[in-house]
Amino acid sequence: MQLNEQRVDIRKRMRNLRKNLSKEVQEQAAKSLYINISQVANITKNTRIGGYLSNDGEPDLSLVFKEMWSKKAKPHLPIIHPFTRTHLLFQEYEKNSPMKANRYGIFEPELNCSHICPVAELDFILTPLVAFDSQGNRLGMGGGYYDRTLAQIPDNAVKKPVLIGIAHQCQEVDALPIASWDVPLDYIVTPERIYCPDR
Ligand SMILES: Nc1ncnc2c1ncn2[C@@H]1O[C@H](COP(=O)(O)OP(=O)(O)OP(=O)(O)O)[C@@H](O)[C@H]1O
Ligand SMILES: [Mg+2]
Repeated sequence: MQLNEQRVDIRKRMRNLRKNLSKEVQEQAAKSLYINISQVANITKNTRIGGYLSNDGEPDLSLVFKEMWSKKAKPHLPIIHPFTRTHLLFQEYEKNSPMKANRYGIFEPELNCSHICPVAELDFILTPLVAFDSQGNRLGMGGGYYDRTLAQIPDNAVKKPVLIGIAHQCQEVDALPIASWDVPLDYIVTPERIYCPDR
């Protein structure tokens, strides 16, 4: 099978697996992830964290957002860039942020330029993913949004966001067929494990 066919096949299988997880499994996953994420991301006042609102069976981060707000940290959510439409912007997510559905039906904060954080200035980014491997490789939904956005972070930046992939355990594969543009992760956190790929 060609590389692209393999990626299409893995996406189909993994999306089915996570969409079929029961409500109980999803609730337990959200609680365990909340604990495991706190082992990797030190969330304190003014820490800037990129997160996501779950969709398509992705693990729910609501507990993590609540914790961030209670610690006066600054969670951010991705917004599809209004002009390029190929990149993401990260905008602060407050309890009362006005929200609207994007073209995929995913809710995002209504654009407010004064609340945008340049991606390189986030301390952590919790990325959703469709599949991962223990080497830190990540396969997304196929839009290239995260890859394009994370590619903007200069290699020689003094401080870069720590990239943490968030997944259900069933989304692990032995070795992902990776492409040159795929941006690897620093950590992957599942309800059961924390992966710290060595590179
Ligand atoms: N840095 C980049 N610059 C230009 N195009 C890119 C870049 N990264 C990815 N792309 C384009 O995006 C398309 C989708 O990429 P890919 O299949 O890796 O998406 P994905 O990782 O599953 O999605 P996402 O990044 O949204 O999670 C690729 O075919 C590629 O053409
Ligand atoms: Mg990719």
